[in-house]
Amino acid sequence: MRILLLAALCLVAAPTLCAQTPVQPTRLGLCAACHGSTGHASMPGVPNLAGQQLDYLRDALKQYRDGRRNVPVMRAAIGPVSDTELDMLARWYSAQSPQPQPQAHP
Ligand code: HEC
Repeated sequence: MRILLLAALCLVAAPTLCAQTPVQPTRLGLCAACHGSTGHASMPGVPNLAGQQLDYLRDALKQYRDGRRNVPVMRAAIGPVSDTELDMLARWYSAQSPQPQPQAHP
């Protein structure tokens, strides 16, 4: 009974907190400074990551790590991480829901 109740609560109240949300990666704090913890960039010139394709995020991170994307700011941020860590970060950001953002005024 309790489990049923919990499942129902998940559906109604917080679907993102229950079912599919991946475990928050330990390195997320560093990324959050620029990309936000939910993948909504907190500064100009930084891309949003929320809801991006998992494969794309994983490949992009590998490219920064291996130097095929030679962008110093991201290379410094990602550092020499393992494939497992890259995978966790990609899964985390891919699972976030994109939110509309305020329009910039020219
Ligand atoms: C100092 C700010 C900063 C930090 C910290 C940072 N990033 Fe980035 N990130 C950027 C910028 C700027 C870009 C755009 C770089 C480019 O032009 O390729 C970017 C690009 C990316 C992209 C590619 C997006 C795309 O659409 O191609 C991914 C994925 C990404 N960051 C993930 C991460 C992760 C995961 C972390 C934490 C380990 C992190 N970033 C930390 C600034 C940052």
